Amino acid sequence: MQLWADLDAIEPPFLCWLQFPEVEMIAVLPMASLAEGEMAPVRLDGVDMLICHVEGQFYAVASRCSHAGQPLVGGRLDGYQLRCPLHRASFDIRTGASLGPPASEPIDTYPVLLEAGKVHVSILR
Ligand code: FES
Repeated sequence: MQLWADLDAIEPPFLCWLQFPEVEMIAVLPMASLAEGEMAPVRLDGVDMLICHVEGQFYAVASRCSHAGQPLVGGRLDGYQLRCPLHRASFDIRTGASLGPPASEPIDTYPVLLEAGKVHVSILR
């Protein structure tokens, strides 16, 4: 019981990893290669995603907009908000939630683990 109370204080990507500890976490890039406020595209097991570095944390989100499926890689990262370059929908990189039209659906997010100076990500299917 105490364990779940402690988990409430853990950020969503780490919480997800703790709930599925058997999931393999794969190193996708060195933490030092991504400056604060920047994002980088990576492909993991055929899935395109963006790794975002905000407020000292790293987040992994799908790199396709939920509105019309266009790449988000040319978008703008402003704090936790990722804006699509095509029609300017925006998403919260912590949850994938849509923050503004024309997108109404979220984008996928992926568990992130920081270990040995590298960003590790897993895809839960
Ligand atoms: S494709 Fe992203 S807002 Fe339309």
